Formats: sequence, structure tokens, C-alpha cells
Amino acid sequence: MSPVAAPAKPKATASSAAPAPVPGKVLPPFVMVIFGASGDLTSRKLVPALFGLQHEGILPKDYAIIGFARRPKKDEEFRREMKEGVDKFSRLRPVASGEWDKFIPRLTYHQGNFDDPAAYASLKKILDDLAKTRGLTQHIFYLATAPDYFATVVQQLAKVGLVRPGLPARVVVEKPFGNDLTSARQLVDDLQACLDESNLFRIDHYLGKETVQNLLYFRFANSIWEPIWNSNLIDNVQITVAEQEGVGTRGAFYDEVGAMRDMVQNHMMQLLAITAMEPPANLSSESIRDEKVKVLRSIPTPKPEMIPASTVRAQYEGYRQTDRVSPHTTTETYAALKVQIDNWRWSGVPFYLRTGKALTTRASEIVIVFRRPPATLFRAEFGDLLHRNAMHIRLQPDEGVHLSFNAKRLGKSSVQPVDMEFCYATEFGSYSPEAYERLLGDAIYGDSTLFTRADEVLEAWRLVDAVRHGWQDNPMALYRQGSWGPRESDLMLKADGNNWIDLDAHARA
Ligand SMILES: NC(=O)c1ccc[n+]([C@@H]2O[C@H](COP(=O)([O-])OP(=O)(O)OC[C@H]3O[C@@H](n4cnc5c(N)ncnc54)[C@H](OP(=O)(O)O)[C@@H]3O)[C@@H](O)[C@H]2O)c1
Repeated sequence: MSPVAAPAKPKATASSAAPAPVPGKVLPPFVMVIFGASGDLTSRKLVPALFGLQHEGILPKDYAIIGFARRPKKDEEFRREMKEGVDKFSRLRPVASGEWDKFIPRLTYHQGNFDDPAAYASLKKILDDLAKTRGLTQHIFYLATAPDYFATVVQQLAKVGLVRPGLPARVVVEKPFGNDLTSARQLVDDLQACLDESNLFRIDHYLGKETVQNLLYFRFANSIWEPIWNSNLIDNVQITVAEQEGVGTRGAFYDEVGAMRDMVQNHMMQLLAITAMEPPANLSSESIRDEKVKVLRSIPTPKPEMIPASTVRAQYEGYRQTDRVSPHTTTETYAALKVQIDNWRWSGVPFYLRTGKALTTRASEIVIVFRRPPATLFRAEFGDLLHRNAMHIRLQPDEGVHLSFNAKRLGKSSVQPVDMEFCYATEFGSYSPEAYERLLGDAIYGDSTLFTRADEVLEAWRLVDAVRHGWQDNPMALYRQGSWGPRESDLMLKADGNNWIDLDAHARA
């Protein structure tokens, strides 16, 4: 793990809870070139995160950030736009002017078209000058661009010698990585022709979330879970990523993508892999990613005849009437699937995944559902009141872990599920570092643990493609806005004698 991986101390204050370098090590001097620097992602996430890293004292004494985009712009204008972004989106807002003044000279703007060789030749000259005059030799190229440009930009960088296999220059790419297995494979080939896989950092911002990283700590820094983390005691695992908002003004983008490609292929497959992986040999990025990809490889490709019983696709009512959405669209706003992992640990344990828009609440949660107690002792008396134990690992909102178990009610011969709870906000304060701060810090340091490797991405596409092909012949379900999704999703679990565990129950308690 990287030097920015140190866990926050209990009861930390807002400023001290951010990732901190291991004593004696600081991030090395660097130049980051952000392609697509006038876009939404740069002002909303990237520059506020870099500013946050500077505020925490994690960035080195000297570094430079160069914004690259198409529209002509002076440095001053670019800096003003970035300041607006930080003022609006930074966790440190309102920003003290003294602090911004230290950050601002780092930012410059370079105008160019992504496919214009002259723009790269002039960029190379700037980078050569920075290496000569300030010793900034580590280059990080951040592609905050539409995915169609990933290969173009990297190939242009290769033409002027800024990337090539064997060079330490790094390239960070945003999601989505491809539209399907074929395009993702092509992109892997195109990029790997220009640089080493170890220098390619594919962002999945879920992996930058504290609570997702805590899954590794939760599973492997404790001895009590590992003996029960398998099919002997676990009945099923449920992973939910629910969004309360519909597609809103992003209809044109969303209608091209859908829930499977927007959520399942990346974030949910990563959550599944971390939940199900074997303990890694060590905390190196390759060891962790080896274990994650083994999980994905152990999931058989679903056959077309299995798709109707093991998946659900649905649209919320009114989606087809949304602005810039085709009235005949077959894009899903909800997806649910049952996944089997064919290995010794998980044989026979279904993993149920569901994600959707316009649902009743915003929640990301992994629920580990344990087997029913085997004895008839209490079951004979209380029947269905005897709940299955469930461990809720809540990623958002109110991050934490709670374990529900049955207890005797005071003064009565009856049973009631009760909770043991760890809540991040109570234990560590309400501040949680931004995922992009963590990820940018790791990319600058060169730690790829929290980035997805090519083989992981391709395995995830294999599964997603098979489901999407199977869907072509299957009907689309509908669900009410503000509900938990379509009835078909409940029926899928009911066929196994299961049900979606109520995520609201804990919030109401
Ligand atoms: N926004 C988010 O929160 C978010 C979250 C996750 C992933 N992403 C991904 O991040 C990427 C960028 O998203 P975004 O929302 O920032 O996009 P955006 O707002 O549309 O910005 C696109 C940027 O690319 C530049 N650009 C486009 N064509 C160009 C060309 N031919 N030559 C030079 N520059 C060109 C634009 O420059 P001009 O303005 O000068 O034309 C602009 O800076 C996408 O892949 C997206 O899927 C975004």
C-alpha cells in the first residue's frame, strides 16, 4: 500500500484525518497534465482534490499542474475557473486566500486539440523545460476526456516520446474503459502498445472511498470474521447501490450507457471482488489485484437460457418521457442479478446485486446474510420472527458496519432483532477524505492498488456482455419512481427462498 494509506487516528479532526505520508516519505516532485481541463470533472473533483492534498502537506515542495483543452484561454482565466470550482466543491471551502495563493502559481493552461501533433510538440517543450529548470521529471497524464479520446491522446504522447514502454511516465484514465468486451480489449491493446500496464491507472472512484478500503481492513485486520466468511455460515450476499435521483438532465449520456455499464461493470464488480477475495499474500498492489481477478474469473459466463431467472432489467415509469431520451429506448435504469462464484469458499452462495435510479433512497450497502440457526429450539416457537443474522457494511450514507442478531425482549418470552454498530462519524468525526484525493495521491506516488488492472476490467466486461446479450430477447420490467425497484427483482430472490434485506430498517431504528 502507498504512503498515503495510513488509517486516520480515532477522533481525528477534519484536517488531520486525510491520508498522511508514512514518516520520512513525501510524494515525489511531479508534473500533472490534465487533458480535458476545462471540463466538469476537473473543476468539480480533480483540482479540489489536488488543493486538498496541498492543504494536508502531502504534496512535495515543487510540482506543476498543466491544464490541456481545446478552447483558447490565458493562465489567469484558467486559474479563475479553477478557483470557482474549489470555492464551490472543495471540502475546505471557504478557501483562505493565503492558502489559494500558494497553490495558484502551480496551475497553467496549454491550449490544443487532442489530435493535433503540434499541441503535443509544444507540450513536450514545456515539460523538457520544467525538467531542466525545476527537476520535475515525473510525468502524470490524466485523461479527463471522453473515452473515445483515450487512445488518440496516448498515441500522440507516444509520438513525441512522452510515453513509451520502460518510461516511468504514468497515464490515469477515467471510466468507462470501453463499451463492451471487444472495445475494452482493443483499448487495452492500444494503450499497452504505448506504455507498461504498471503505469496505467484506471480510475474507479469507488475504490477511493474510505469505506471500500475499510472492507480490506475489516476482513483481514481482524481474526473473527475469516473463519465464518464462507459458505459454511453465509447464506447469501446482497450488494445494493441505490440512487434516489432519476437521470435528470443527463438523459442523452445515460441512455447510451444504462445501469449495467454505468454501475455493475465497474463499481459493483469491484465491491463483489473485495467482499469475496481470498486473503492476499501481502498488501502489494499486484497481490491484492491478483486475488480480486481470481474471484471474477471464478464466475461462470451466464448462458442465455439462465438470463431470465438470474437477472432483471427494468426502467422506472416515466423514463421514456425524459428530455433527450428516446421514447422507444431499451436502456435499463435498474439492473439486478444473481451471481455464483464457483470456488471452494463460495460454492452455493448466491451474490445478489442490484442498482437503479429513482429508487426510494440513496444507499450503497453490502449485506452478508448468515444461515438460519440449525436447531429447532427457538424456531419451533418463533418461526419467521427468528431473523437470520445479517452484517450490514454501509458505504453511504452514514458509513459504518452493523451486525443484527436476535435477542430476548425484556420481560417477555419473545425475540427481537437488535444491532451492534460501528459508525464512522461517531468514531472518527463526520469528515471523510474525498475519494479523488486518495486516488490522485496514489497515482502521484505510483501505487496502483486502488486502480483496476486490465484483466479485472476484461473479466467484468465478459459477464456484463453476456447478460446484456441475453437481455435482447427478454422483456423490460417497470417500476414506480421512489420504490425499491420492480417486483421481478423480489421474485428472483423469492425463487431461492430469499428476500432483499430491508436497508431502511436500520435507518429507522
Ligand atoms: N464529470 C464527472 O463527474 C465524471 C465522473 C466520472 C467520470 N467522468 C468521466 O470523465 C471524463 C470527462 O468528463 P467531464 O464531465 O469533465 O467532460 P466534459 O465536461 O464534457 O469536458 C470535456 C473536456 O474535454 C475537452 N475536449 C473535448 N474534445 C476535445 C478536443 N478534441 N481537443 C481538446 N480538448 C477537447 C473539452 O475542452 P473544451 O471545453 O475546451 O472544448 C473539455 O475540457 C469522461 O470520460 C467522463 O465519463 C466524469
